[in-house]
Amino acid sequence: MTTLLINIKELIQVREASIKKVSGKEMSILPTIKNAFLLLENDTIIDFGSMDDVPSSIDNIIDCTGKMILPTWCDSHTHIVYAGNREQEFVDRINGLTYEEIANNGGGILNSAKKLQETSEEELYKQSAVRLEEVMKLGTGAVEIKSGYGLTVDAELKMLRVIKKLRENYKLPIKATFLGAHAFPAEYKNNKEGYINLIINEMLPKIAEENLAEFIDAFCETGYFSVEDTDRILEAGKKYELTPKVHVNQFTTIGGVQVSVKHNALSVDHLEVMNTEDIEALKGTQTMPVALPSCSYFLSIPFTPAREIMNAGLPLALATDFNPGSTPSGNMNFVVATACIKMKMTPEEAINAATINGAYAMNLSDEVGSITKGKKANFIVTKEILSYGAIPYNFGSVLIDSVFINGKAI
Ligand code: NIG
Ligand code: FE
Repeated sequence: MTTLLINIKELIQVREASIKKVSGKEMSILPTIKNAFLLLENDTIIDFGSMDDVPSSIDNIIDCTGKMILPTWCDSHTHIVYAGNREQEFVDRINGLTYEEIANNGGGILNSAKKLQETSEEELYKQSAVRLEEVMKLGTGAVEIKSGYGLTVDAELKMLRVIKKLRENYKLPIKATFLGAHAFPAEYKNNKEGYINLIINEMLPKIAEENLAEFIDAFCETGYFSVEDTDRILEAGKKYELTPKVHVNQFTTIGGVQVSVKHNALSVDHLEVMNTEDIEALKGTQTMPVALPSCSYFLSIPFTPAREIMNAGLPLALATDFNPGSTPSGNMNFVVATACIKMKMTPEEAINAATINGAYAMNLSDEVGSITKGKKANFIVTKEILSYGAIPYNFGSVLIDSVFINGKAI
């Protein structure tokens, strides 16, 4: 079926040629066409341009007068599959406990792991599907989802099977990441080696056998997985062709960026605490730095130094980190707004970071992330707005009229 969208006030993130990512100064350029049309054939973008050149004799026409169109958000870092919530910890933090103190008292990731282990696969799927549908309505059209709240062989497999089922039942691209190295289970507190061996010798072969993940992750952080642990785990993942995407520099800088770069990581995520060596280590690499501003906001920790990263000529992507502990929100509109408000990114930089660079951080640059011929027809139609700057400016407002996935409004 051919569908023609006409009178688009501004068609945003238009790229004639498919590009992989934008870096440094290029991030401030967001190509658009005013008074535009967009032509779809089934699930694919086949043409776009000025209304002066609009094609004729197409039956299925959608009038977008006053509205804008941009590619759907590419959320390259989430933990959408989890059981229950951690609202009590939220209240504990309001009352003065820190994230670290809560984790040290047996809360945090271990609390979520306990809940998930006790939840059936069906129930876990149900809860996760609700979250996925919510974020799709908020404009997310491609998403990465991690395991890491299982922490046993069975529960990690359960999480990854749920991700697989979501991929089968929903039309947006979904990428799976194995994050067995998220925290050490209590029973391995004094036998960290034992848990790493479990990851390498038992979890990884089973995951590979069922083809349940494309990426591998580790929480490389003081009190969690050391640089040496991370090195071993990423090396083990290589045997199964799992590409690294790594949690680094959330609270401390211990060499997580360097070990990730050594393993040609697709992305390094969090980066709230960055020194000059960390930024230097990323230069000349293919590794995408990913900032998670909603996490900084929710935990009241520093925001990723976006300007320093971009001034070094590096690219930057934005993602939600949707999870029950540090970021119980999967709203990419809020992420884009917070990046502008708190990280001083311009609307152009933030939209590039949340679309084409997010796609890169999932190995999806050829499919989504820009309005380009041949890419998937995954896009957001806004309400009537004065300019695209309204998306971050009117933070908290829902400016989405409809979301198209594979050429169909959801
Ligand atoms: O990315 N930092 C590690 N993992 C998650 C949060 C884990 C949790 O508190 O449940 C994150 O922020
Ligand atoms: Fe995370």
